[in-house]
Amino acid sequence: MTSADAAAGAFRSLHGRLPRGVWSAPGRVNLIGEHTDYNDGYVLPFALPHRLAVAASPRDDKVLTMATVGSDGRLQQAADVEIPHLRPGEPDSWAAYPAGVAWVLREHGVDHGADLLIAGDVPTGAGLSSSAALECATALALLGLAGQPEPDHARRVEIARWAQRAENEFVGVPTGVLDQMASLCCVAGHVLFLDVRSGETEQVPFDAEAEGLQVLVVDTRVKHAHSESGYGDRRRGTEQAAALLGVEALRDITLGDLPSTLDALPGELAPLVRHVVTENARVVDVVNLLRGGQVADIGPLLDASHVSMRDDYRISCPELDLAVDTARAAGALGARMTGGGFGGSAIALVHKSDQQAVEAAIMAAFEDAGFRAPRLFVAIPSPGAGQDRP
Ligand code: GLA
Repeated sequence: MTSADAAAGAFRSLHGRLPRGVWSAPGRVNLIGEHTDYNDGYVLPFALPHRLAVAASPRDDKVLTMATVGSDGRLQQAADVEIPHLRPGEPDSWAAYPAGVAWVLREHGVDHGADLLIAGDVPTGAGLSSSAALECATALALLGLAGQPEPDHARRVEIARWAQRAENEFVGVPTGVLDQMASLCCVAGHVLFLDVRSGETEQVPFDAEAEGLQVLVVDTRVKHAHSESGYGDRRRGTEQAAALLGVEALRDITLGDLPSTLDALPGELAPLVRHVVTENARVVDVVNLLRGGQVADIGPLLDASHVSMRDDYRISCPELDLAVDTARAAGALGARMTGGGFGGSAIALVHKSDQQAVEAAIMAAFEDAGFRAPRLFVAIPSPGAGQDRP
């Protein structure tokens, strides 16, 4: 059963009628380019086949009702909210994400009530952007109910910024725009090369399968929570460094500038800047290799990215390091943590013929270390958000 079917079915059980439509949005992995988005830099995500779907119908009033089907199949209903009375901080559960989107859309003239039923299979707290998937699917649903046509690319970029605002200002988590852009703008078979400063995008073909390769995702099941973690500290550190250096964002520092730049910075900020500047350069290098069809050659850049996040940005954790080191030792061409860090998921580029050996090595290493068993799956670059049913 697809996420859209699950959402439509649960909607019908709860409301006794079919929804007006179902919209869904995917989670993502970021191939490379971490913590570069809020520094105006480059990112390179692709969409996962895992999606969150929102089955929705309009209401005659200004009330938003929200319900979700959990992974255990149980229906959970949030308290109803009045759209004109929405304000940041309330509700503060999962319902903050759809409510936050309604709060932003209100400013753009969309403030009708709706019944929303959410279902899907994007793992939560796994660094795979379940929050952005929920925001983006909700935004498309509310805009669709308001009679707006399927958004084109320019409109998707605008909606991504609105969804980011919902997360930053309503939910109160200071993330960049990587996840929302990935969820809305990725297309199947490609990675999305995004220049966050200019908003320019390029769909870069990424067909690992054709090269006999696969991207293996290792969800360590260590929960990350950006609001409570060091995400905000890192973000503030890079903004402080940019201010000290007199640049608008760390994007403006080149690899060539780096040695003199690092000398000019206080000890605790220098490694943060080194990560962002070298990571931007690695994204560009990976894109150039992929444009030339050299998928297998990106491995060392993935490895270098992980080392940079582990040692300079200091956002890894023992489980992520173990997943990455074990994957490499078992034959992966490259591996790195993906997403915000402090838990969540790692990715590994592996030959298809090595997949089972890599998976077995990771499971065994986690067991030996006394860690919870990770969840492993192969990620295929999948379509971005859209309407599933009329
Ligand atoms: C999280 C945030 C993104 C981005 C990544 C790190 O996923 O939501 O905006 O900063 O972390 O690259």
